[in-house]
Amino acid sequence: MTEAATQTPDVRYTRQAVTQKTIWLDEKLFSLRVTRDPAFRFEPGQFARIGLALDPTAPDTPSEWRAYSMVSTPDESELEFFSVVVPSGKFSPPLAGLVAGNALFIDKTAFGFLTLERFVDGRDLWLISTGTGLSAYLSMLRDPATWQRFRRLIVIHGVRRAPELAYRQELLDMARTFGQASAGQLIYVPITSQEPLDPDLAPGLRCDLTSASRITHLLSSGELELRAGATLDPDHARVMLCGNPAMVTEMRALLGARGFAPGRRGIPGNLAVENYW
Ligand SMILES: Cc1cc2nc3c(=O)[nH]c(=O)nc-3n(C[C@H](O)[C@H](O)[C@H](O)COP(=O)(O)OP(=O)(O)OC[C@H]3O[C@@H](n4cnc5c(N)ncnc54)[C@H](O)[C@@H]3O)c2cc1C
Ligand SMILES: NC(=O)c1ccc[n+]([C@@H]2O[C@H](COP(=O)([O-])OP(=O)(O)OC[C@H]3O[C@@H](n4cnc5c(N)ncnc54)[C@H](OP(=O)(O)O)[C@@H]3O)[C@@H](O)[C@H]2O)c1
Repeated sequence: MTEAATQTPDVRYTRQAVTQKTIWLDEKLFSLRVTRDPAFRFEPGQFARIGLALDPTAPDTPSEWRAYSMVSTPDESELEFFSVVVPSGKFSPPLAGLVAGNALFIDKTAFGFLTLERFVDGRDLWLISTGTGLSAYLSMLRDPATWQRFRRLIVIHGVRRAPELAYRQELLDMARTFGQASAGQLIYVPITSQEPLDPDLAPGLRCDLTSASRITHLLSSGELELRAGATLDPDHARVMLCGNPAMVTEMRALLGARGFAPGRRGIPGNLAVENYW
């Protein structure tokens, strides 16, 4: 139990502290590891509401809250978050300014429905994201249960430029480790929209197509499936979309025309989505 929770058990949040900060790309992308209230429970794919006390005269009262997906797994003792810096944003610049030991507040409840419970088991799990939308999938990928449910895990990560491919090494390491055990179970497809991709950055890619493009354009042209070496077949594929809302909307329409739809009234679907703004 943290100090704040002990003193005022009726508040909806606990006070936690940053333990580690990783800068992926200066002034744009960073991750934080933070202490975790042992009572805080979540499923991979869910998000926390993080609060910051932005009024210097009230350092114990969070004044601004934002949603952040958990990167860490439910059985890790700390929480991990991956964030963009929106220069004009009210929240992400002060969040980026935190260092080890600084306080932040976390709502006691985890939220969100971008979880694998949404799907019946399938052959291929497609985890499609832009930017920090990758966060929600990292928690799933770090969870061994995900690897037992699907024969192939296809991670599509679209960013503007290669230095924004955060967690690339962890994904490649997973692909190598699990690839040896089960014949390439993880397929990692990084995509850059504003410069061609250096093929060395994606050694597992199934073809030599590395031109600059958006995920939506690659799906329409058939190149997304070529790069992944897998087919988006609605009977066997389960698809998640996370990140830029315009990408989510466009992908939903493209995938809808191919037979993908979210679940309804308790009937599991083959598509699940989350918008980040
Ligand atoms: C369910 C959910 C989960 C989220 N998880 C994450 C996460 O894991 N990591 C993360 O960085 N953000 C995440 N976000 C977004 C986050 O809550 C904040 O919006 C973001 O950190 C920016 O806060 P801000 O106050 O600086 O700017 P805001 O005023 O909140 O946003 C200003 C503008 O910045 C842009 N923007 C906001 N968030 C992003 C983003 N993530 N990537 C690119 N552009 C963005 C949009 O154009 C937005 O209109 C999530 C949002 C939701 C709804
Ligand atoms: N130099 C910088 O870029 C910089 C520096 C510091 C902070 N920031 C902040 O970072 C934020 C942007 O973060 P981000 O680049 O991670 O997010 P983003 O703007 O959502 O872009 C991420 C990826 O999504 C693609 N995309 C955008 N709309 C799409 C659509 N409709 N369909 C398919 N793909 C689409 C982008 O392609 P396109 O490239 O084709 O749009 C890009 O490859 C901004 O708020 C900005 O303030 C940017």
